[in-house]
Amino acid sequence: MPVPETIAQPGSGVDQDTGPGRPRTATEVLRPHAEHAFADELAALAAADDRPRPARWRLSPWAVATYLLGGTLPDGTVITPKYVGPRRIVEVAVTTLATDRALLLLGVPGTAKTWVSEHLAAAVSGDSTLLVQGTAGTPEEAVRYGWNYAQLLAHGPSEDALVPSPVMRAMAQGMTARVEELTRIPADVQDTLITILSEKTLPVPELGQEVQAVPGFNLIATANDRDRGVNELSSALRRRFNTVVLPLPASPEAEVDIVARRVEQLGRSLALPAVPDGADEIRRVVTVFRELRDGVTTDGRTRVKSPSGTLSTAEAISVVTGGLALAAHFGDGVLRPADIAAGILGAVVRDPAADRVVWQEYLETVVRERDGWKDFYRACREVSA
Ligand SMILES: Nc1ncnc2c1ncn2[C@@H]1O[C@H](COP(=O)(O)OP(=O)(O)O)[C@@H](O)[C@H]1O
Ligand SMILES: [Mg+2]
Repeated sequence: MPVPETIAQPGSGVDQDTGPGRPRTATEVLRPHAEHAFADELAALAAADDRPRPARWRLSPWAVATYLLGGTLPDGTVITPKYVGPRRIVEVAVTTLATDRALLLLGVPGTAKTWVSEHLAAAVSGDSTLLVQGTAGTPEEAVRYGWNYAQLLAHGPSEDALVPSPVMRAMAQGMTARVEELTRIPADVQDTLITILSEKTLPVPELGQEVQAVPGFNLIATANDRDRGVNELSSALRRRFNTVVLPLPASPEAEVDIVARRVEQLGRSLALPAVPDGADEIRRVVTVFRELRDGVTTDGRTRVKSPSGTLSTAEAISVVTGGLALAAHFGDGVLRPADIAAGILGAVVRDPAADRVVWQEYLETVVRERDGWKDFYRACREVSA
């Protein structure tokens, strides 16, 4: 059955100049969708891409992987890396989308699950907005379909009264659907995905019809490791997914690289004045986060206690971005220890009692003695006081 386009469809509105479906650039909206922010790269990849593309894919699997991992095209176009991590992970994720299994991105918070999911959907389908946000309150309608009640009351159930979910639209159009935080969704609502993923159909009993998925349809779900036990995936549903675990950055260098790249992009989109030479402080934030996360100092000599928060790469990115804003607006334009101290404290001390003790101990036993960390120690003492 035809699925009504009740809402303007972002991906298909490319030719329009007005209206909600129009692509938005960074100067117009705070955060453009990946397919708009990187439209130039995607177009260059499509032009250079002579490998076979699965049905309705905008790019070949090779080009999708290049979009995610970065590279240089024969015509010299530079594709910026979106994901920094093992190539194989990206290759497995991309090829999964070309099979009849769905993709589950699993990992601790801040390992770029959402980020990778958005960029995969943008590269494969040219549209990352067919998204269901999973929460404890996600209703079945968000995964299947709902009704426009005015229409329903006036004319009874009809195709016109049906409000398709993002998943239903993706099925009808052969696109990539996304489900965020799958394990937070109540088990009975999760189960509605089983028929969709195994039978590739979504029955609409009220109309005696069904929506059958067309080639190109697939689904990317994300879930946090830490949420285990909230709503454990049923084994029936888990079998429909290929699971790809996104790891924490393997080395301090890799993590510094990720933070530096993202901070630079974010600073540009927030129009922060350029702050040169943030590298030292970025390395410091990453070092502190990794040591507290790992429970041991980089040299392996001193054990430290871990605080309750995750101290993810994503949080390191926010701390540095916050520090850059301080440096740009209130400092001398150089990122200094004082600009990141308050941000670090906020990220580390989540539980005011226990985490504060952990932090004080780290400050006195590790930071205080470390060469070149005097200014940082002093700045931390000042904000903790
Ligand atoms: N390996 C990585 N490569 C690139 N960016 C990363 C990486 N790890 C974390 N990030 C950045 O961290 C931020 C948060 O990631 P997000 O996708 O929200 O995490 P998650 O959904 O896993 O909790 C994103 O801005 C992303 O760019
Ligand atoms: Mg996420």
